[in-house]
Amino acid sequence: MRRIPILQIGAGGVGQALIEQVLWFNEHRGGRYGFRFAYIGLADRQGAIVADERIPPLVLRDAIDAKRAGGSLADAEAGGPLRDWRNLLSPDPCVVIDVTAQDGAEDGLIAAIEQGHRVVLANKKPLCAGHESFTALTHGGRTRYEATVGAGLPVISTLQMLLDTGDRVERISGCFSGTLGYLLSELESGAAYSAAVREARARGWTEPDPRDDLSGMDVARKALILARTAGMQLELSDVAVEPLFGSDLADQLPEAFMSQLERMDESFRERVAQAAADERVLRYVADVHGGAARIGLTAVERDSAIGALRGPDNLVVFTTQRYSERPLSVRGPGAGVEVTASAVLSDLIGHAREWR
Ligand SMILES: NC(=O)c1ccc[n+]([C@@H]2O[C@H](COP(=O)([O-])OP(=O)(O)OC[C@H]3O[C@@H](n4cnc5c(N)ncnc54)[C@H](OP(=O)(O)O)[C@@H]3O)[C@@H](O)[C@H]2O)c1
Repeated sequence: MRRIPILQIGAGGVGQALIEQVLWFNEHRGGRYGFRFAYIGLADRQGAIVADERIPPLVLRDAIDAKRAGGSLADAEAGGPLRDWRNLLSPDPCVVIDVTAQDGAEDGLIAAIEQGHRVVLANKKPLCAGHESFTALTHGGRTRYEATVGAGLPVISTLQMLLDTGDRVERISGCFSGTLGYLLSELESGAAYSAAVREARARGWTEPDPRDDLSGMDVARKALILARTAGMQLELSDVAVEPLFGSDLADQLPEAFMSQLERMDESFRERVAQAAADERVLRYVADVHGGAARIGLTAVERDSAIGALRGPDNLVVFTTQRYSERPLSVRGPGAGVEVTASAVLSDLIGHAREWR
């Protein structure tokens, strides 16, 4: 039985679900493939648990319990403080898994690849730094990143299959944010913008500062990852993004922003009513086409594929040379820790199958 060493950076919602799925894989599927994953490191912001051979399953389960109770790996019985996850990289090849939302990890990940390690990302940010970093990370297939777009949906693998088989991708469009999908469905049902944003935040469906979702930057990163994967040389600053709040609210502190949401109610009510009068509905649409990427509120036909989307579902539509009259669509829930972790595990299995 081969041993595939893994080093996981991040032990939040996705990270905890991933540990459970990796342990399940080792027990139930490893024998079928002839390999098992061995955690050699698990890190959060302040600490880590490390092992030369493998962190035992019991220790990993205790770590999950400690994180769910709000603790840090620095205080875990088997853990200790850690300044920088890069200190955990050993000379022997492993798969580095980034399930954080940290900025600036790309240089460390590129260095890891140069040392012979492989990478799996749920974190979009390393793929959205300069184009050179994207190329250094993805060149040669040493970084897999299915979970970065559409969570567990097979979006990146579908795009790669189209590209690998010589299809020409002409357009990638759709709705890539479950949070904004929910918000627009609520507006369509008559809710005020302020009420819908507060409700989404109370349910934990937005970031603590909802502007992180409402700014459209998360969707812009996903559009950029798709565009770059398709071969376009775009930067994040090239993506045209329409935020879903006024520029006068951009610099407010989060609670001040939350207390002024009503200022947006009227303009959204008008836009929803105007769309309805034209038999249309508003969706937050990403469109990657003709060397450019644009993201914004769009009035689409009610019975189109995008118009028929409800709630937090994602839709990614590939219009290609082969799929031209009837484009190829991937649709389904585009968020959730379990489905996101399953895409990360699937990428891990992909790396393990190429392991020499
Ligand atoms: N949740 C979803 O549905 C979903 C879907 C698709 C993609 N994703 C992506 O998956 C990633 C993880 O999401 P999540 O929901 O699990 O986030 P989360 O619950 O906030 O967890 C993030 C984890 O990363 C750790 N972390 C942050 N910076 C770090 C650093 N510099 N070094 C080591 N650890 C660090 C945090 O440590 P502490 O515990 O010490 O704070 C935490 O354990 C994000 O990039 C997210 O965009 C999530």
